[in-house]
Amino acid sequence: MKKYIIANWKENKTVEEALNWLIDFKTARSGNEESLNPIVCASFPLLYPLSEKLKQLNLNVDLGAQNISRFEKGAHTGEVGAFQIRSVAKYVLLGHSERRRDFNETAETLLTKIDQCLANGLCPVVCIGSGSELQELSERFTGKEIIVYEPPEAISTDGLFHPIDLNSIRKITAGFRALLKAETPVLYGGSVNPDNALKILSCPEIDGVLVGAASLNVKDFILIIEEGER
Ligand code: PGA
Repeated sequence: MKKYIIANWKENKTVEEALNWLIDFKTARSGNEESLNPIVCASFPLLYPLSEKLKQLNLNVDLGAQNISRFEKGAHTGEVGAFQIRSVAKYVLLGHSERRRDFNETAETLLTKIDQCLANGLCPVVCIGSGSELQELSERFTGKEIIVYEPPEAISTDGLFHPIDLNSIRKITAGFRALLKAETPVLYGGSVNPDNALKILSCPEIDGVLVGAASLNVKDFILIIEEGER
């Protein structure tokens, strides 16, 4: 399986900054990303300009949204439906601990949003913070999700990375695999950066990484991709 290297830009970047990131990415890389799956999860207003720019640059990078509405469509002011996202992105980040913390998203909301994604041909990238959280949900997963083991306490604060405990990550991701359908990719997220990417991406049980702070700087994101190619 090709490893996934997923950027989570969170609430960052103007349209201009986002397009410049892509141009710098193209300049630094050949545009040939065949050995890995790089994905950029960006805020809603960036997705359309990014999708147009990707076509223009002929760049093999996919896009993801960072959220979708739990409703199909209609009178839900301020919401963005999966049906509106599917023309500009392939993936949707769901269940992130920041959404649970800041928007009180529950497991039921997450499951409804996964259904919305799947009904619209979008791939849900679901963040799960612990083995017990996964245990509650795993039976409802279809095998079409990408699962990210992302302990909330491991997420960098203002770009200050926490040390990672690789043994514990390996043990927990192996436990995740035991609960999930065999075809489900299992990624790790939390303080991934160019200094620790190689040891994480070298683990056979880890299918990729979700990168927050270190993805904002294109040079750091490329360094992480290069570690995945070694
Ligand atoms: P971080 O964020 O890489 O800055 O720790 C990861 C995430 O929240 O997805």
